[in-house]
Amino acid sequence: MSIRLEDALTAYGRFFSSTPTIAARAPGRVNIIGEHTDYNDGFVLPMAIEHDTLVLGVPREDGKLFLRAETLGRSAEAHIDKTVRSQEEPWTDYILGVADELKKLGQPLCGADLLILGDVPVGCGLSSSAALEMATLAFFEKAGAFQLEGSEAARLGQRVENDFLGLSTGIMDQFISRCGRAGHALFLDCRSYEFELVPVAFEHALFVIANTACPRGLTASKYNERVAECTGAVDSLRAAGGAGHKLRDYTLDDLMKIQGSLDEVNFRRARHVITENERTVQAKEAMESGALERLGELMNASDRSLQEDYEVTSPELDVLTALARDLPGCHGARMTGAGFGGCTINLVARNQVDVFCEALLAAYKKETGRQGEVYVSAPAEGAGASFLS
Ligand code: GLA
Repeated sequence: MSIRLEDALTAYGRFFSSTPTIAARAPGRVNIIGEHTDYNDGFVLPMAIEHDTLVLGVPREDGKLFLRAETLGRSAEAHIDKTVRSQEEPWTDYILGVADELKKLGQPLCGADLLILGDVPVGCGLSSSAALEMATLAFFEKAGAFQLEGSEAARLGQRVENDFLGLSTGIMDQFISRCGRAGHALFLDCRSYEFELVPVAFEHALFVIANTACPRGLTASKYNERVAECTGAVDSLRAAGGAGHKLRDYTLDDLMKIQGSLDEVNFRRARHVITENERTVQAKEAMESGALERLGELMNASDRSLQEDYEVTSPELDVLTALARDLPGCHGARMTGAGFGGCTINLVARNQVDVFCEALLAAYKKETGRQGEVYVSAPAEGAGASFLS
């Protein structure tokens, strides 16, 4: 855990004047490759990172929820019988959304005094919201003495996003935050929820995350627009005789055959998804065989496709990846997460990492005037909770 539990306990005592009985945590994530494929039933290859959201609390029998977001310096009150969104305190939506879904599942739910504390950078594509959902879920599971199966827990978090918050996101973020394993990336089939753990154990390289430190603009509406464009492409493929319901079911050949009759934008969106699925399968193989150059090439190709076909990068992301590729020791660089701002992931020779980070930040500052950030994280363990004695 990257946040010290003592610090969290101190913050809890300061706010609630008591000691929490349960500590739950869940990590953020970085996606190595497989971007915008999850809601197309495709493949993703993320890993959990050593940045966590902690939810500390004491269950209450009166159904009341006293909520404190320590990092934001905000607090709010709610009740498990009234799980609705809040205009004033939008951060509570993730907690109340989880409570709402648990009620729908008929699982035991209690009130609680909860303190939330985290070091997952917010709003930059490292899934701070999924971490909050999965940590909240882990808290309620512990308090109610039940445990959802991994994919069921992830689907619950996805429904919070889809139904409670109105974002058409896929399952990747919640799945890795819940099911991630230390030392491993997770190759997930987003249709069957079958997954394989892929060791991240290169002797000579590390993943470096770089943050553009740029607020993401209009992410939700543009994200939902991409989802709709993929559906549009599938409609055209089906109209031409295809049987599949998702882009996952089609090959590049299938797509090329209908290029003339397909909307040009939808064509490019579909080409990204179909080729990204192929790259993700190949990247998993490259990781397993330690083929760093190949993995780097696939990351670069993914980024090009996200820039040109899917159009979800931003000027700052493009600067950051281009600068990274020019630095010694960089095998590959790509944007990661939903895009429109946020972070990149870079595969860098182990013995060059320090020099790389320093040079990248300096060059980025020079070119954009912005102070970026870098994080080097080993693959972390998924969500969990324990009683505090
Ligand atoms: C966001 C969504 C994920 C996924 C990525 C893009 O992180 O929450 O479901 O679609 O964007 O790959």
